Amino acid sequence: MACSSLVKLNASSSQWIGQQSFNQRPGSSCRFASPRVSVVRAGSYSDELVKTAKSIASPGRGILAIDESNATCGKRLSSIGLDNTEVNRQAYRQLLLTTPGLGEYISGAILFEETLYQSTTDGKKFVDCLREQNIVPGIKVDKGLVPLPGSNNESWCQGLDGLASRSAEYYKQGARFAKWRTVVSIPCGPSALAVKEAAWGLARYAGISQDNGLVPIVEPEILLDGEHPIERTLEVAERVWAEVFYYLAENNVMFEGILLKPSMVTPGAEHKEKASPETIAKHTLTMLKRRVPPSVPGIMFLSGGQSEMEATLNLNAMNQSPNPWHVSFSYARALQNSVLKTWQGHPENVEAAQKALLARAKANSLAQLGKYTAEGENEDAKKGMFSKGYTY
Ligand code: 13P
Repeated sequence: MACSSLVKLNASSSQWIGQQSFNQRPGSSCRFASPRVSVVRAGSYSDELVKTAKSIASPGRGILAIDESNATCGKRLSSIGLDNTEVNRQAYRQLLLTTPGLGEYISGAILFEETLYQSTTDGKKFVDCLREQNIVPGIKVDKGLVPLPGSNNESWCQGLDGLASRSAEYYKQGARFAKWRTVVSIPCGPSALAVKEAAWGLARYAGISQDNGLVPIVEPEILLDGEHPIERTLEVAERVWAEVFYYLAENNVMFEGILLKPSMVTPGAEHKEKASPETIAKHTLTMLKRRVPPSVPGIMFLSGGQSEMEATLNLNAMNQSPNPWHVSFSYARALQNSVLKTWQGHPENVEAAQKALLARAKANSLAQLGKYTAEGENEDAKKGMFSKGYTY
């Protein structure tokens, strides 16, 4: 086991002050290790990272995730009979990002690279549309999932090569936070190898993002797939988050400048019984309180294939009593489903589709404040969106 102590002063923006032993599990002995001293990350972006994270985790607001890769955006468009062309993707993203009043409920928007550099048909940059509404632009930086050799049909997430320079470019273009989504599958194990790889990749990405001024969203999605009960999800989630925080600390990531994007702790999608929002909230908060330090400013859940209404009800249940962190949403499917159905690709439906987005954003804003009631929700909002082996 490599053991060493390290002193690095004023060497770069990611300087360390103090001494640290590394590559050493807590409790293991190391001949050379000096007593553990807490590491202070004094990067040039520290204050800005804290400010960005706080602004995203502000009361009554959450994240609109529209960072689908071109292939996944194509699936959204084909569900309403549109071709997957750049013009159609731009029209759809324009509809979403120019929704009047969106900034009241949405604090950040995660974009795909194409959208970060795109403008409206009138030539206004999408990042400027967001900034005008006090919405922080974010960027998906991972390069997707590929099979993990030596595992049980599991995957790993690519994208670390060149990430520092890409992140610096994204910052220049106006992005202030980043997202990296990796997945863990319960029916496939998860194997120790897959969990370790997911956690290590997230931690390396988080450190690189912070060095380049981007608040990293840390997202190890535990897929809904499977027949397992909620207790099994709890067990796996605890294990995954323990490893994620272990490696975040090893990479000297500043916890005040990150955001988390966990899956809610639910039974597997094919389990025989559904769980109530109260049960889901209880298990999810139990897991988070056991694993997430209060220095983390915000927990922004993914929707993972739940129906729009389920995702909102579950979030609402989690905000019935105070939490150590801002507990909110970063939904893609659970914010976009009704919008797409209303729009159907017709210019005359844009206004109604924007109203549908605003209605969902408002419902989730109320849920963030613990004040949502499902009264008046339509049938579409109740339809689940789970699809087996879903990819982004
Ligand atoms: P869903 O809310 O569709 O699960 O989105 C997850 C995600 O990572 C999008 O950024």
